[in-house]
Amino acid sequence: MRKKIIAANWKMNMTSGEGVSFMEDLKLELKNFDGAEIVIIPSFTALPRLSEIISELPGITLGAQNMWHEPSGAFTGEVSAGMLREFFTRYVVLGHSERRIIFGETDELVNKKVKAAHAASLRPILCVGETLEERDADRHHEVLAKQLKGSLAGLDAEQMLDTVIAYEPVWAIGTGRTATPEQAQEAHAFIRKTLAEIFDPATAAKVRIQYGGSVKPDNAKELLHQPDIDGALVGGASLDPRSFAKIVQAAARK
Ligand code: 13P
Repeated sequence: MRKKIIAANWKMNMTSGEGVSFMEDLKLELKNFDGAEIVIIPSFTALPRLSEIISELPGITLGAQNMWHEPSGAFTGEVSAGMLREFFTRYVVLGHSERRIIFGETDELVNKKVKAAHAASLRPILCVGETLEERDADRHHEVLAKQLKGSLAGLDAEQMLDTVIAYEPVWAIGTGRTATPEQAQEAHAFIRKTLAEIFDPATAAKVRIQYGGSVKPDNAKELLHQPDIDGALVGGASLDPRSFAKIVQAAARK
């Protein structure tokens, strides 16, 4: 039984003050909720204050949006896994399509980061997903397999179990154009089959695979009840505590 994991990727939004008031509102919306694991992923600068608040909230953990793979050194502007651990960060998003497209991150670099995250006991949320051009050319399986094999190279099964995959079709991010539940389920099943090939079927059956791309309160339930969809990585709709709470609650309802 895979516990659903719903994550709020705030991207470059929200100051730490805004994050604190978001958490106050979210707490009221989700009183005593324990139907899913919740991860809040703010900007680096909001980690210290949110860490204090989240450490007192059972069922909610903290994530970061990125990191560099070296432990320290002359890497101006970068943040290491150890620096994230200082604030009890549990997850780190790696290989988000915005990092791949805007900042030129390759599978090889993402793989180094995935390994460095595990070495520091941080759990990667590894993002994979095809562009619209690739989907229209019916190449999404090829693209997903390449991203998974490249980004997960050298991991053992135990590390894979501590890794979350996020399927985020690039054409569905911030566009309001969600993958249909059938399209998302088909891609998730393909990802699980690929994990079974890279690792083994028992490991693949346990790995959680989130869907991301225009998840909203009104489409969350149908997506989250597909057999291979184990959660959501939410961008825009995670900036409002009420809409994020509705998505979290959708994970629990049958
Ligand atoms: P949106 O929910 O805004 O489409 O963003 C999805 C995403 O990129 C989450 O990481």
